[in-house]
Amino acid sequence: ADGAARAPLSLGFASLAPRMTDAVVVPEGYVAQVLIPWGTPLVSGMAQWHPDLDPTPDFQAASTGMHHDGMYHFALDGADSSDDFLLVLNHEYLDQSALWAARGGPTNAKQGARPLDEARTEINAHGVCVVRVRRDEQGHWAPVLDDPRNRRITTATPMLLAGPLRGSRHAVTAYSPQGTQTRGTNNNCACGYTPWGTYLTCEENWSEIFVNRAEQDPDQLRLGLAESRSIYGWETVEGGVDGEFERFDNTPRGDDPRGDYRNEARTYGYVVEIDPYDPERPIYKRTALGRFRHEGCWPGKLVAGQPVVFYTGHDARNEYIYKFVSRAPWDPSDANRPGERYDRQAIGAKYMDHGTLYVARFDEDGSGEWLPLAEDTPVPEQGRTLGEIYGDLAGIIVNTCDAADLLGATPMDRPEWGTVDPSSGEVYMSLTNNSKRTEADSAARFTQEGESIGTPGVGYATAPVNAANPRPDNDYGQVIRWVERDGEHERFDWEIFVFGAAPGEAADNRSGLDDANAFASPDGLWYDQRGEGEGILWIQTDNGIDKGRDNAVAEMVNDQVLAVVPGALSRREGAASVVDPSNQAELKRFAIVPNQAEVTGIFATPDRTALFINVQHPGNWPAYDSADATLAPSAQVRPRSSTVVIQRRDGGRIGEA
Ligand code: FEO
Ligand code: CA
Ligand code: CA
Ligand code: CA
Repeated sequence: ADGAARAPLSLGFASLAPRMTDAVVVPEGYVAQVLIPWGTPLVSGMAQWHPDLDPTPDFQAASTGMHHDGMYHFALDGADSSDDFLLVLNHEYLDQSALWAARGGPTNAKQGARPLDEARTEINAHGVCVVRVRRDEQGHWAPVLDDPRNRRITTATPMLLAGPLRGSRHAVTAYSPQGTQTRGTNNNCACGYTPWGTYLTCEENWSEIFVNRAEQDPDQLRLGLAESRSIYGWETVEGGVDGEFERFDNTPRGDDPRGDYRNEARTYGYVVEIDPYDPERPIYKRTALGRFRHEGCWPGKLVAGQPVVFYTGHDARNEYIYKFVSRAPWDPSDANRPGERYDRQAIGAKYMDHGTLYVARFDEDGSGEWLPLAEDTPVPEQGRTLGEIYGDLAGIIVNTCDAADLLGATPMDRPEWGTVDPSSGEVYMSLTNNSKRTEADSAARFTQEGESIGTPGVGYATAPVNAANPRPDNDYGQVIRWVERDGEHERFDWEIFVFGAAPGEAADNRSGLDDANAFASPDGLWYDQRGEGEGILWIQTDNGIDKGRDNAVAEMVNDQVLAVVPGALSRREGAASVVDPSNQAELKRFAIVPNQAEVTGIFATPDRTALFINVQHPGNWPAYDSADATLAPSAQVRPRSSTVVIQRRDGGRIGEA
């Protein structure tokens, strides 16, 4: 709108040199502020966090949880949406040693009964947070305490099932004999949002909180339920109300599923829809989008009169990329009306409960096909349909990954975040790394019966390289990009956008990275539109040494945020996995996070003057009593995951000249 003479978008900061410190590092001319670290009260009159705080269930239920991950912003009616909005963020998992530092660590962490108050506190440290945040005239951000929309959603919050699982036999529990309700959402990782103003939180490593000591079903083996004790041992708590802790034990107790919690874990593994504007509205698990370890969920290019599309990936080694295509065409009158209270969940039901879930196959020639996980889909060489194998659509959804195996989907190098260029419709997805990728076909992936031979919790044992995942023992990961073929829902074209690598490792360094932009284990992604047809792709990494990654990048630089102005998808014949170097010409390192932390969660305010990121699982950060994220603590501190807001001293647009 500001005339034809604008120069093409370019990055206006110097790429950061590699650093490994206990501080957030940002380019010259930028500042970084700590905002709502773990244990920040959302209401007034609460105990304030302090280094010796021994948290209670009530404290944790009314303050920010641990391990901030994905997040998104929601405009308020009448407020400047770049200075004052609802921030919704995920609390992915726990650092028990930081949580229980005041009592010297968790009680009975590995054996014996966990105390009731510790389990309730831990449950309340997970989930989602809705908090209004505001920027003052000095550019300082703070939570708005006592806003009526501030709330915590936890692993105990009641929720409704929607879509194929609702009312199915797979969802029957002692809590919900009709199979329509459950409690809680857990291990919420990357984010998502809808065009109608709701937040999507996705359940990733949820299977670890459940145990089944009996013989496990294929879906339990594939997704990785514990066999003797769950990760936090919540099922060992004595007491509790209405199966509050018993539900984490999925071991059958008799013949009747209404008498126990054998199906509890089948009410997890979904995309979950929350209306951030209205705490009174129910929360729905949108089961039509599949059941697996969902990293996140992102809407595709939105076109009036066309279906609404969502992309979602399964973060485990050799698992798959999916998309959901709504049955209902997009009606622009369903778009969000910021701040208003009305039934957004009825709109969610319209676009997310009815449609088709597809899984991706990436072919050698740079094209790909979306394979429908529908009841009438024939299974190659079996003479049966998916509906005949799994009984009904609910059965297909419970066993989404096994059904995807049968259709010949392409096993990927751990799909993490996706993001969409809203004008071109190009989709980016990070494939973070894969230690179980082999040069040749060294492992049969299926039995003759079409059943899984998965290794619990880690997907399939191994998979051979393919064009989209071409490096064996892939330490560094890559970002893949695709675009749908015009007017089709079942064909697309793809290429590798950039390969992570260490400088100097010639064979592995397919994108020609150097000291100024070497990265590994891409995870968070965000396409930041800056004009019609142009934008910045932000890439965040999760390559920390503490997660066991000992690659050369982990030895030279902490986790980081990179930026690049992407060129167009090349769509060249045979372009698959051949990178156009112009894609990487401007890949620059914008921020580096503290030792042991990963960086995850990203968006900018609509005016692009503030970039929000999350620092997750730092080892010794932030400095106590300082809001300056770039300040390293002078001594050992009790670490707190936190949101960090990066702004320019001159108030300009992030990343640009
Ligand atoms: Fe929670 Fe796949 O990251
Ligand atoms: Ca994470
Ligand atoms: Ca992640
Ligand atoms: Ca990760």
